[in-house]
Amino acid sequence: MIAGESWAIASVLFVAFLEASAPTAPAAALRPSDLRCEYRVDPRGIDVVRPRLSWTLASDRRGDQQTGYRILASSSPEGLGRDEGDLWDSGKVLSDQTLGIAYAGQPLSSRARVWWKVRVWDRDDRASDWSLPAIWTVGLLHRSDWQAKWIAGPEAATNAAAGGAPNGYQSLPAAMLRNSFRVDRPFKRAIAYSSALGLYELRLNGQRVGEDLLAPEWTSYGHRVQYQAHDVTALLREGENAAAALLGEGWYAGRLMIVGRFAYGTQPRFLLQLEVEFADGTTRTLVSDDSWRCTASGPIRAAGIYDGEAYDARQELPGWDAPGFEASAWRPARSFELDSRQLVWQRNEPIRVVREMAPVKMTEPKRGVYVFDFGQNMVGWCRLHAVGAAGQTVTLRHAEMLNDDGTLYTANLRGALQVDRYTPRLDGEFVFEPHFTYHGFRYVELSGLARPPAEAALVGRVFHSSAAEAGRFECSDATLNQLMRNILWTQRANLMSTPNDCPQRDERFGWMGDVQAFSQTAVFNMDLAAFFSKFAQDIRDDQADDGRFPDYAPHPGDPNRGASGAPAWADAGVIVPWRAYQNYADTRLLAEHFEAARRWVEYVHRNNPDLIWSKGRNNDYNDWLNGDWIKQAGWPGQGGSVPNEVFATAFFAHSTDLVAKMAEALGREEEARRHGELFNQIKAAFNRRFVQPDGHIQGDTQGGYALALSFNLLPEALRPQAAQHLVGNIRRYQNHLSTGIQTTHRAMLELAREHYPDVAWQLLTNRTFPSWLYMADNGATTIWERWDGYVKGRGFQDAGMNSFNHWAFGAVGEWMWRYIAGLNPDERQPGWKHFTVAPYPGGGVTRAKGEYQSVRGRIACDWEIAGPRLILHVVVPPNTTATVRIPTSLPAAVTESGRPARDAQGVRSLLAEDGAAVCEVGSGSYLFEAPFSAGSSPPK
Ligand code: BGC
Repeated sequence: MIAGESWAIASVLFVAFLEASAPTAPAAALRPSDLRCEYRVDPRGIDVVRPRLSWTLASDRRGDQQTGYRILASSSPEGLGRDEGDLWDSGKVLSDQTLGIAYAGQPLSSRARVWWKVRVWDRDDRASDWSLPAIWTVGLLHRSDWQAKWIAGPEAATNAAAGGAPNGYQSLPAAMLRNSFRVDRPFKRAIAYSSALGLYELRLNGQRVGEDLLAPEWTSYGHRVQYQAHDVTALLREGENAAAALLGEGWYAGRLMIVGRFAYGTQPRFLLQLEVEFADGTTRTLVSDDSWRCTASGPIRAAGIYDGEAYDARQELPGWDAPGFEASAWRPARSFELDSRQLVWQRNEPIRVVREMAPVKMTEPKRGVYVFDFGQNMVGWCRLHAVGAAGQTVTLRHAEMLNDDGTLYTANLRGALQVDRYTPRLDGEFVFEPHFTYHGFRYVELSGLARPPAEAALVGRVFHSSAAEAGRFECSDATLNQLMRNILWTQRANLMSTPNDCPQRDERFGWMGDVQAFSQTAVFNMDLAAFFSKFAQDIRDDQADDGRFPDYAPHPGDPNRGASGAPAWADAGVIVPWRAYQNYADTRLLAEHFEAARRWVEYVHRNNPDLIWSKGRNNDYNDWLNGDWIKQAGWPGQGGSVPNEVFATAFFAHSTDLVAKMAEALGREEEARRHGELFNQIKAAFNRRFVQPDGHIQGDTQGGYALALSFNLLPEALRPQAAQHLVGNIRRYQNHLSTGIQTTHRAMLELAREHYPDVAWQLLTNRTFPSWLYMADNGATTIWERWDGYVKGRGFQDAGMNSFNHWAFGAVGEWMWRYIAGLNPDERQPGWKHFTVAPYPGGGVTRAKGEYQSVRGRIACDWEIAGPRLILHVVVPPNTTATVRIPTSLPAAVTESGRPARDAQGVRSLLAEDGAAVCEVGSGSYLFEAPFSAGSSPPK
């Protein structure tokens, strides 16, 4: 295991929430901490030659700023301890920059190890102490560094499984590969670089290497495959050693929706390069090649992402991964030269088990068939500890919901089995956990045991891409807290190497439209800087030759032929990287991505010179799952769906606008000007074609108004009228939404922006469907795909598309973060350099707390209505500034830490607005109090 990465998970734990403000505490120098390299804690094996470094700052006083920094990087920890920067001494750099600082020391070669630390100067030019040291190591930078070959298991395994595996599984048995080698001298270090086309588990001397699951994860395998680097020094020994791997089909050779089996190749392959450094300074490299031996006759008889795993313990081969095992009956592995696909470092956080869940209930709806309820819809698998009978198969089936009779509801899994089977070798106790699959489930049905299980027989092992959780939200309304928890659980479930639509049915794709809508909510919940960098690469890899972005990434088919270029879905190729830039100020990502984004906009423009996007749309998913999809007597069958050309042209305009902004951020003035002009022209065409003088937009749909307002497509003067039409339409739907996954959160945000936060609050707190609290009231613990996924009395929606763990409608989390917690990034100062704190109390909520671990440190907003007063506590990290909007009936009477706010240290430009006082603050902790009456807050 990589020690540093366990710290990343530990860093999820936050320091105590909103400690008391200390405006008069003695001044102290700034303290740098949370050192990151390429957004990761102590990353190993990176392939970035000028990695970017960052840190966050803490300070006990207000208005603190970094005025300079000095970075030391050394090739040894001892050197760093002596303050020797033999690799890099940046010298004192006069700068307030704390992130995106590119290493500029001695050129780094493959396998380099770099220890580094930083000290900063505060606004009085006083130096901080040195930070704690951090490390990164460089992996294999060049193709010539790789001596290993891809190796595959027995060929027959492919054909046998293709002909049909037992019990409905349509997946391959896992291959087992092994080799042994001698280490004949004392060694000081051993690093394993490994990967697979498929999924692998690396083992050394009988031990599992690392904790990563489903490695090397999903990429556009034709273009690039990720490798993992593990320090295996502790597992190696002098004398005989054994290296071994389990190899599953995964996304590479397994079944994938639409494309079927073998999307990338028919047989998984494995790759290992184990580099041993001896005490005497010499080295030896052990590689996967045709001297390895393999078998497909081990215990994992089938293992597929959708299927689950069939494990027959009678076929276990004890000691197969340890020295001394007799493998002469195994076949020689077939080897293959490395080909044109790139081997790259895995830059996103690995998939890891992040928590365990215990069942809350066990029932026996049929004799001998037990149903466990985990109380939470989640993703991962179960560890089973039970008593079995030799040869008698135990079956675990997984589902999100139950039928009325207490049995599992599995119709919505479509072609995904989600079944694990374990066949014991002996009578008695056993422990089983699968390998190369994952399930979306709340309920597990267990059958085939020798005796009734204890409730503790199952432990839910929850895993996903282990990005650190960045946000914490809590308010006085328990159902809204449940909603935010549901959103977060849905995010956990769908962050599996790629940002997926769902975790349970035979789909689980990185549908671009879904993550595009959810992206800002996702960023509030988790630190996705590394994850989105990887995803942006996935998107670029699968861009069609003519510029179309794929509808899902990775795209396992051919994006030139289809499933690419859909309005709102393909546009994620512009919107998601822009979102990452907004929140993480990542200009390198923007620079790498710009050309791809520009080509996409150019594709749409080329096909539609009249600027109305009518041609080359390929797919019209439109405002997917809008009100017209609802199946309920009396519900209008029409009126929710935005006319296709209105919908598409709005996204064309928006992507063009963002490309202009990207160009501006990158200093590409000519392109910024050109795309800025094009945006204005599309906007004009949109208005000419679709907008009436009274602000009505063709189709008169809620979604249409939401898009036009959100993407700034209307003349200023028409905005209030369009907003009125939006509200009027909501009223016609009896104060309900008719919007789909692309416009729901945008409608909510625009209602608040156009001074109708009360309408947004009403929609948020509606308990009749379509609404979020309808889901919560009906027992949802994650966000449903459809507003009416289940309706009492009517039952389930169409099983062909009815996930209970889809994050798109959870994009309302962004509204909750912005308007309840009050935290808003500032588009003009990316990476939370400046932000706005502006809570809008409403909906009967009397207090709320939001805390967000930004790329520049901890931001917090905590408010409470206490009788006739509003108390607002705000934390602004050093080196940043904020605009604070304090809702109040009497702006002149606002105090901060007991004094008139205008006199408070760090508070500037206090202004009275309608129903609020607005001021600018520097860093620090502030405690505002203001007279508050219902009138100073939007009515419910
Ligand atoms: C997915 C959606 C996705 C859509 C494309 C569905 O099957 O689950 O979330 O965006 O297809 O229309």
